[in-house]
Amino acid sequence: MGEIDPAFIQETEYRPIFKTIEADEEIPLIDLSVSTPSDTERSCVKDWRSEQEVGIFSSDQSWGAVGTKAKDREDPTLIPASDDPDDKELRVLTNQWPHKPSELRELCQEYTRQVEKLAFKLLELISLSLGLPADRLNGYFKDQISFARFNHYPPCPAPHLALGVGRHKDGGALTILSQDDVGGLQIGRRSDGEWIPVKPIPDAFIINIGNCMQVWSNDLYWSAEHRVVVNSQRERLSIPFFFFPSHYVDIKPLDELINEQNPAKYKEFNWGKFFASRNRSDYKKREGENIQIDHFKASE
Ligand code: OGA
Ligand code: NI
Repeated sequence: MGEIDPAFIQETEYRPIFKTIEADEEIPLIDLSVSTPSDTERSCVKDWRSEQEVGIFSSDQSWGAVGTKAKDREDPTLIPASDDPDDKELRVLTNQWPHKPSELRELCQEYTRQVEKLAFKLLELISLSLGLPADRLNGYFKDQISFARFNHYPPCPAPHLALGVGRHKDGGALTILSQDDVGGLQIGRRSDGEWIPVKPIPDAFIINIGNCMQVWSNDLYWSAEHRVVVNSQRERLSIPFFFFPSHYVDIKPLDELINEQNPAKYKEFNWGKFFASRNRSDYKKREGENIQIDHFKASE
């Protein structure tokens, strides 16, 4: 195998240290396939109490149980052209579909339609778990800017020097990740920052809590830092679906969850501007801080 391009070599402090950690029992597995919705809802609401410590969970979901037909998402998607708060210009995001394979476009669209239904189901269950009406958060997704991405991680000649994706927290509400059986995703444990491998479970999605959910819930839900390590033997594929609110939504802790004893832990921020800023800096090798949700922490 060839040499590694120096552009991929991480600073020493970000290089992965390979050691065996078996801690996947810390990541709850939630079965959404139980037939009656009320059972599903009860078990999820209960299980998510523990999930709040972990910031990530797996969801076992058969397609048949995902619900009724969702609206077709229209291309194009509009997002802010820049992260400058005074710049009101919007930019059009359009998919560049390759001609081959010819079924790709239809297949991807069907995948995102189905996974979007799951996202709304999860959103509603999370709202219930917070003691809120099931549809409390739905309005923020009227012109959602959600998208799916295909990640391909080729075998790497020097896995100890590089990362597939550098450490980050997902910015949106939720991420629904489908991964193959290779493995490589790791989350930073909340208590001590230790990197815990997220082992692939057949037919289960990985659900990441994103920054917006953390802020809406005023820290009842927590968005876990994660990264991807690579290996020298096998390529890996993953498909994250990023469930993102409409760009014009301002994100702040929900009024119902704050009071004098429990004040808002975050200042309000505009989701589209936050996304525009993150989008430019994510996936680069880290050179200083990029914008993080902690920058919006209310002062104590
Ligand atoms: C991401 C991400 C994880 C993976 O794309 O934000 O965290 O396993 N991907 O590919
Ligand atoms: Ni991510």
